[in-house]
Amino acid sequence: MDIERKRALVTGGAGLIGSHIVDLLIREGWQVRILDNLEPQTHKNGRPAWIHPSAEFVQGNVQDYETVRAALTDIDVVFHEAAYGGYMPEMAKYVLVNSFGTAQLLEIIRDHKLPIRKVLVASSQAVYSEGAAECSVHGAVVPLLRPAEQMRAGDFQVHCPHCGRPTSSIPTAEGTPGGGETVYALTKVDQERLVLLWGKQTGIPTVALRYSCTYGPRQSLFNPYTGVIAIFCTRLLNGQPPIMYEDGEQTRDLCFVEDIAQANLLAATTDTLDGLAVNVGSGRATSVRDLARIIAEQLGVSIEPIARGEFRPG
Ligand SMILES: NC(=O)c1ccc[n+]([C@@H]2O[C@H](COP(=O)([O-])OP(=O)(O)OC[C@H]3O[C@@H](n4cnc5c(N)ncnc54)[C@H](O)[C@@H]3O)[C@@H](O)[C@H]2O)c1
Ligand SMILES: [Zn+2]
Repeated sequence: MDIERKRALVTGGAGLIGSHIVDLLIREGWQVRILDNLEPQTHKNGRPAWIHPSAEFVQGNVQDYETVRAALTDIDVVFHEAAYGGYMPEMAKYVLVNSFGTAQLLEIIRDHKLPIRKVLVASSQAVYSEGAAECSVHGAVVPLLRPAEQMRAGDFQVHCPHCGRPTSSIPTAEGTPGGGETVYALTKVDQERLVLLWGKQTGIPTVALRYSCTYGPRQSLFNPYTGVIAIFCTRLLNGQPPIMYEDGEQTRDLCFVEDIAQANLLAATTDTLDGLAVNVGSGRATSVRDLARIIAEQLGVSIEPIARGEFRPG
């Protein structure tokens, strides 16, 4: 896509990922507006110092029709990063901020015939269930969610849905069946489906980027969702062992936030991803146990992580 004027709206642009997208776009010569309500769960200390001085900052809520309508004025590309995250019990809030907020934003663009040229939405690896796996007998399989009873009994393996053998995890392709196993994940599924469907109906190009676990500077210490590296660092710096869920052998694809920002810029400036949901990650699996050791080594402390059999449903 050839963008002459390059004006972006970054919702959630005060947060971890959004703020790095803002910085990158400004370096690339874009005009940037941020819409962010400074959600206290992420921003316990108020407005963060890293909000780029060249960006126009609008403090407002994506749930608010007039705020969103005004924020969308004179914009070419929307980077929709604002979302409520965490493993919190507020079911209705997830749906309001994430699902409703996205639906309303799309409706405003359509109903007011705003000349938006592209909408990118932040989706998540959370749209998958356990992810793809490999069975020594059945090859590539899509395991069901591990039942809580199995985990309570201390078995954290992902078993083959056909023969029950333990599997090993393999990269999860975009076509892998998923659906979301937490309320947060359900709303991420909503967001990407709403955006991609609306794109088909309106003809406006859209991309859903399924980010893997993202880390980097500006990561909130208060938001329990954006957690593991920040939490392990905090424990280790206080002389405490990191506490791993499950047995610590579960793997994650950890991706540096500036790479996530770069993926957004690429997706915004090519038409090859239009209409698609796309994984964004490092392509490398790291076990939580290895991660704890890598962080300890980097911090120069020799404290081993501990696993107490705790786990989180979903
Ligand atoms: N961090 C990760 O590992 C990860 C992984 C997958 C997907 N994502 C998605 O990426 C996006 C950005 O996540 P992040 O890690 O930067 O989180 P973050 O909490 O650092 O940033 C989110 C920003 O959105 C803002 N926000 C929240 N509710 C809002 C509302 N109602 N109105 C306006 N602004 C609101 C917050 O104030 C915050 O600045 C989210 O959509 C998240 O679901 C993140
Ligand atoms: Zn099998």
